[in-house]
Amino acid sequence: MQEKIRKNRESIPIQKNQEYIVEIIDQGMDGEGIAKIEQFTIFVPNVLIGEKVKILIVKVLPTHAFAKAIEIIVPSPHRVKEDCSSYPRCGGCNLRHMDYETTLDFKQNKVENILQKTFGKEKIKVQKTIGMGNPYYYRNKAQYPVGQDKNGELIWGVFAERTHTIIPIRDCKIQDEQSEQIAYAIYQFLKSKKITAYDETKQIGYVRHIVIKIGKNTQEIMCIIVVNGKELPYQQELVDMLVQRFSHIKTIIQNCNTKNTNVILGTENHILHGDGYIFDILGDYTFKISPMSFYQVNPVQAELLYNLAIEKAELTKEDIVFDLYCGIGTIGIFAAKYVKKVYGIEIIEQAIADAKENAKINQIHNIEFFAGDVEKILYKKLLEKNIFPDVVIVDPPRRGLDNHTVQNLLAIEPRKIVYISCNPATFARDIQVLTEKYEIGEVQPVDMFPFTSHVECVAVLELKNYQ
Ligand SMILES: C[S@@+](CC[C@H](N)C(=O)[O-])C[C@H]1O[C@@H](n2cnc3c(N)ncnc32)[C@H](O)[C@@H]1O
Repeated sequence: MQEKIRKNRESIPIQKNQEYIVEIIDQGMDGEGIAKIEQFTIFVPNVLIGEKVKILIVKVLPTHAFAKAIEIIVPSPHRVKEDCSSYPRCGGCNLRHMDYETTLDFKQNKVENILQKTFGKEKIKVQKTIGMGNPYYYRNKAQYPVGQDKNGELIWGVFAERTHTIIPIRDCKIQDEQSEQIAYAIYQFLKSKKITAYDETKQIGYVRHIVIKIGKNTQEIMCIIVVNGKELPYQQELVDMLVQRFSHIKTIIQNCNTKNTNVILGTENHILHGDGYIFDILGDYTFKISPMSFYQVNPVQAELLYNLAIEKAELTKEDIVFDLYCGIGTIGIFAAKYVKKVYGIEIIEQAIADAKENAKINQIHNIEFFAGDVEKILYKKLLEKNIFPDVVIVDPPRRGLDNHTVQNLLAIEPRKIVYISCNPATFARDIQVLTEKYEIGEVQPVDMFPFTSHVECVAVLELKNYQ
């Protein structure tokens, strides 16, 4: 064994801390460049296919290595000047060195490659990614960690990629600009009052995160201050300052999170100002958004995605539709006017409370919502009561569908399944199982998260031999 490891090591054609000149021949799932030296794979972030690059090897593993680019010798015509001072350290974007059109091609290729690995070559057609006219400042939700630097000074910003090191962020190109202004004002206030940040290792101190949600089409702002406990010194002064300086702030919430966890929000909220929620408008509809409810972070593309999903579903007035993983009921509410009845299921109780109110606000009477885990309550609340769908829309989190739900879908055989996914890997896994009874139509990627390597896609699965 020892001998085998030694031999393997000897056959590795590169060494740590050595420089090499390579050509970038491919791209990985997160947009990182791939080079080969004597067939040995090296991953190099922030480089583009076709570039000739001087690299420094930073880590060598038995099967591949990681390097950083120290000089771009021959740049790609698709390289653009990076427009953010926190890039690439910040984990928010990873494609800011690429022109926008190329990022869209990259996302289409990414989905194609994943599907090819599962289904073989050219079995499923992947359309060109639908991009944004203006792919800047698109996000409606920002989450800024607050901490102390090594001198004990209060800092705020974003986590450097794959770490909990806070780095400063200024003029982020994907967030609504107001988020940063509000977070900076809170930071200055905390600093002036010497209010401490939460220390992850010692688990002491007050403020953990500042979370800002903005209704892009109403300009209503929710500000959430995540605190390690119920107490926040100078709380009223902070609220007064924010409301006075930022007239769009409709509600301020103190969220208590005392757990030693990476999850940003705790389960307990205290309303410090306003009603505890904001509204946004998507298409013809108004949506109430609470602190714990999921709401798509890019409303321009969300509206496009919902309309696309509904168009692809070819709904009829006789259809019963299930909207699984429905959040605050957005897709179901968009679909309701085309069908007989919609049933939505979502695990977060507060989101279901919002969904029910959203149906009322928008005067949608043919929709019903249930709070609970799709895996557990799809059968109990609907199937057991002989309520069966003609069309099922699923929009699960990144982990995709659980096996039980996939089996339920195969058993009840809806005419169509519209699968909306934010993770092509779990999407491919799930639709492969569903091919037992379904034909997969073309897959449409949508650029929900410009300049990041993430991609949303939607596909319609049609029941084979449907009469
Ligand atoms: C990608 S979001 C989609 C939400 C909604 N369709 C939209 O467009 O706003 C996924 C949703 O699934 C919910 N969720 C996660 N796991 C769930 C489960 N096991 N059962 C039901 N809902 C779940 C999340 O809370 C989240 O609201």
